Amino acid sequence: MAKYVINGGFPLAGAVRISGAKNSALKLMAASLMTTGKVTLHNVPLIKDVFTMADVLREIGADVTIGPDSVEIDASGELSHTTPYELVRKMRASITVMGPLLARLHRARVAMPGGCNIGPRQINFHLSSLEKLGARIHADHGFINVATNGLTGDVISLDYPSVGATENVMMAACLAKGRTVIESAAREPEIIDLAKFLTSMGANISGAGSNTIVIEGVEELGGATHTVVPDRVEAGTFMVAAAVTEGDIEVEGINPLHLEIFISKLRAIGVDIKEFDHSVRCRGGGEYSSTDISTLPHPGFPTDLQAPMIVLLSLARGHSIVTENVFENRFGFVDELNRLGANVRVSGHHAVVHGGSRLEGTIVEAPDLRAGAALVLAGMAASGTTEIGHIGHIDRGYENFELKLQALGADIQRVETSDRSHFIAPFN
Ligand code: EPZ
Repeated sequence: MAKYVINGGFPLAGAVRISGAKNSALKLMAASLMTTGKVTLHNVPLIKDVFTMADVLREIGADVTIGPDSVEIDASGELSHTTPYELVRKMRASITVMGPLLARLHRARVAMPGGCNIGPRQINFHLSSLEKLGARIHADHGFINVATNGLTGDVISLDYPSVGATENVMMAACLAKGRTVIESAAREPEIIDLAKFLTSMGANISGAGSNTIVIEGVEELGGATHTVVPDRVEAGTFMVAAAVTEGDIEVEGINPLHLEIFISKLRAIGVDIKEFDHSVRCRGGGEYSSTDISTLPHPGFPTDLQAPMIVLLSLARGHSIVTENVFENRFGFVDELNRLGANVRVSGHHAVVHGGSRLEGTIVEAPDLRAGAALVLAGMAASGTTEIGHIGHIDRGYENFELKLQALGADIQRVETSDRSHFIAPFN
């Protein structure tokens, strides 16, 4: 149980190195279950979700060693096909072991994830796609059971480019018989990273990054060494941090092409961005303009950066309309932001941000990971002191968040607290 205490008003300055992407690392760890060979992953962020995924793999029977520079996974022993509710409820991404287990053991029993703080988040696309590859599916006592006598490739046309469904199917299809074609596939950089990793294990995949992915099944996969793609969401969070504090920072170790629409929106608002091959320089200050934003699957504006962007738009001149198209309930933090002095009104999946706010520190709570990070940015932009509870949410996805911010000149402290109201609610 901990909270952040932030004294706002310090412009960020200096350079920050971005960690590996949470949303790739977790899936690469799951994919490691498909081989008896040794897997070494570099650039894995040491965050709570990675430790939870390590527990999931250990529960299944893999050896996982987490070192400062790499994570090693050895799944050569006998594996269990069950993933219990205690782990799935801690982290929904646990369900991405379903495809790998189905491919390797021909069965998986995974607790149903349930809803979370940002929406109901069904897994119907995962299940109908695996069924198309030859899985039989039934639910009992809160578990989903998938089993097969052997997977066979097919054409799978997703109703929506779901990231998780694309990943589960891509992994399962690697060891299926024949060719699988995923149409309307998700195109996120993390999908490309997973495809690269699976290819280095011996899989035959083409088209990742486009909306049609083709997988030719192979007999088996071997061990591999891979470096996780940089975390574009962490990078975007730091860029907004520079903007809201009127700072000037270099964000290093990234691929700016993964953030094209996000960067173009920052420029439209009035943030000065210079792009280099593996970094950006981000300079804030001056008067910001309003702009409208609509979240969409990649390459559209990322839903994971919607909350930080609302903080910035609160400081801009004029009204902005933010439309959330990916998740049903991703404006949950707006009430907390308004307590800091913002003026944001939510109606369905639209938020109207009335800009020109002067934020003032107070006590707030992080409702989920990205919203929690956004409240940290708001606290740094606010006058006076802001306390943020439930920061366990933030620990799930940002490596050394306060240390990186302190190195850039922010006045942010992690304070342990015995106040049970700061106890983190699970999920998302
Ligand atoms: C991944 O979630 C990420 N999580 C999310 O990041 C990210 O916001 C999201 O992709 C979109 O980019 C991980 O990678 C661990 P989806 P995922 O399947 O795979 C609906 C963060 O903060 N849907 O593309 O769950 C679903 O309800 C997190 O780091 C179905 O209806 O995203 C949602 O509304 C949050 N049926 C939408 O599609 C399904 O079978 C997008 O979900 C699957 C999804």
